[in-house]
Amino acid sequence: MEELFRRAARDLVNSRYAIALTGAGMSTESGIPDFRGPKGIWTKNPEAERDAYEAYDKLLRDPKAHWEEVLTPGSFFSLFEGMGKALPNPGHCSLAELERIGILKCVITQNIDGLHQRAGSQNVIEYHGGLSKLRCMSCGSRFDRGEFDLQGLKTRDQLPPRCRNCNGVLKHDGVYFGEPIPGDVYHQSVEAAWKCDLMLVCGTSAVVYPFAELPRLARQRRTEAERKTEAGINLVEKAPAVTIIEVNAEPTPLTYERMSDYLIQGKTGEILPKIVEEVERIRE
Ligand code: APR
Repeated sequence: MEELFRRAARDLVNSRYAIALTGAGMSTESGIPDFRGPKGIWTKNPEAERDAYEAYDKLLRDPKAHWEEVLTPGSFFSLFEGMGKALPNPGHCSLAELERIGILKCVITQNIDGLHQRAGSQNVIEYHGGLSKLRCMSCGSRFDRGEFDLQGLKTRDQLPPRCRNCNGVLKHDGVYFGEPIPGDVYHQSVEAAWKCDLMLVCGTSAVVYPFAELPRLARQRRTEAERKTEAGINLVEKAPAVTIIEVNAEPTPLTYERMSDYLIQGKTGEILPKIVEEVERIRE
């Protein structure tokens, strides 16, 4: 393991544009269960997973009824309520430190818990949205959830909450299964995946798309770059080779398909601080 920490540190120090991709495994050491691990939210509540798969259709069919369900204690949404009380762990702090010293350019996270930002990471792309925000389904505007008295709207029979810019229907900013990834977040992530020459993939089973496409995009970008340039999206001229490093408790499809260069198997909260120590040793 020591040799893997040193190898990852060397790769990070030699990188020109390193980014991190993260998933629920980053936050289990903060007391937030992941989804598909042995103690995962979906593993333990298969009916909640079924509800989650139906949520977007229900919202499109009847936003009022959807919001009444969201605000009903015991609905699957309440599974996420505890997230707001969790604290960042050494894994989150390590990625924030790599950004602070100029090595990590951004974190693209699937997590809605806001722990990267609370650990001090500045450039965070919330690929699946954020727990603390509401988003307009018409104009895409985002608002702090605290600005809306949602329970009051329910009591006064004034659901769904409405956008202050266009009066469109507001939903949780969290992206539901079957819901398209918001355009701004999607493009920022694709551009970062194309630009990067190092990708640190931490605490994700890498089975949920389109997020799991990002490492493949970085790996296959030469042809993609040419195709997209035709579509008018500005891209880097020469796409450098990319190093993809996984830090995860178990191997993933990225490991088996050799999409990643190597896997450092274990806990992100234990491994990432060790890598940062090595980075600082190299930079001394
Ligand atoms: N350190 C490293 N890896 C860990 C740790 C840890 N402390 N704890 C768990 N893991 C690993 C698990 O072994 C698993 O491979 O993290 C991975 C978590 O995978 P998932 O539970 O599938 O979570 P994630 O990949 O983030 O899920 C993607 O699915 O349900 C949707 O929208 C939800 O954003 C989520 C998306």
